Amino acid sequence: MERLQKVIARAGIASRRKAEELILQGRVKVNGRVVTELGVKVGPRDDVEVDGIPIEREEPVYYLLYKPRGVISSVKDDKGRKVVTDFFKDLDKRIYPIGRLDYDTSGLLLLTNDGDFANLLMHPRYEIEKVYVAKVKGIPTREQLKQLEQGIELEEGMTAPAKVKLLSADRKKGTAIVEIRIHEGRNRQVRRMFEAIGCEVLKLKRERYAFLDLKGLRPGEYRELSPHEVKLLRALAQSGGRK
Ligand code: URA
Repeated sequence: MERLQKVIARAGIASRRKAEELILQGRVKVNGRVVTELGVKVGPRDDVEVDGIPIEREEPVYYLLYKPRGVISSVKDDKGRKVVTDFFKDLDKRIYPIGRLDYDTSGLLLLTNDGDFANLLMHPRYEIEKVYVAKVKGIPTREQLKQLEQGIELEEGMTAPAKVKLLSADRKKGTAIVEIRIHEGRNRQVRRMFEAIGCEVLKLKRERYAFLDLKGLRPGEYRELSPHEVKLLRALAQSGGRK
């Protein structure tokens, strides 16, 4: 048995807090009867409706995918390009990615059907750390790396402090490999940060997400998260992303 607001949130309809409001507003029915108290628990066979529409009650699942380049972080694409859920063809659950990686970015991507969990991890306030490795055109100077660390003025405002490490430099080719750790998840953030210092990103890979990495996986492969990993991620997000 689980709390009604948790079951509603997991179905992806609203955050837990919003789900509580829906209950208090008399918009939720359990087995055909309106419920307005917050303490109610429901089991897997109870029918739950929000605004008269039955909610989907799938068992929650959590996956870690090594997304290859050339794949869209979505469940479908108008132009018929490959999407991340194509790797899960045999799964009978409707999962979706938690956040996104660009079409040309490879690396670690989480997928789930648990809306509550996805909202929690994607919320900027919770600051989960992500580690990217970028191959860039040009060899950034110490000063440029410092700029990345201290924050870059993007269209929508300054980026939060980042941790940056020059991993290698190929002086002949004029390229470098740089590791960057950020807590935010703005659109094309890493590419735009490097662009701002005058270094185009040639290749980008997300190597870590919190304590998770890609060990044992090749591009296009995935594994299920253990219940312990799911619990840790939840705890980490709720504590503000710090390990
Ligand atoms: N930053 C980017 O620029 N692209 C990604 O896919 C992820 C982070």
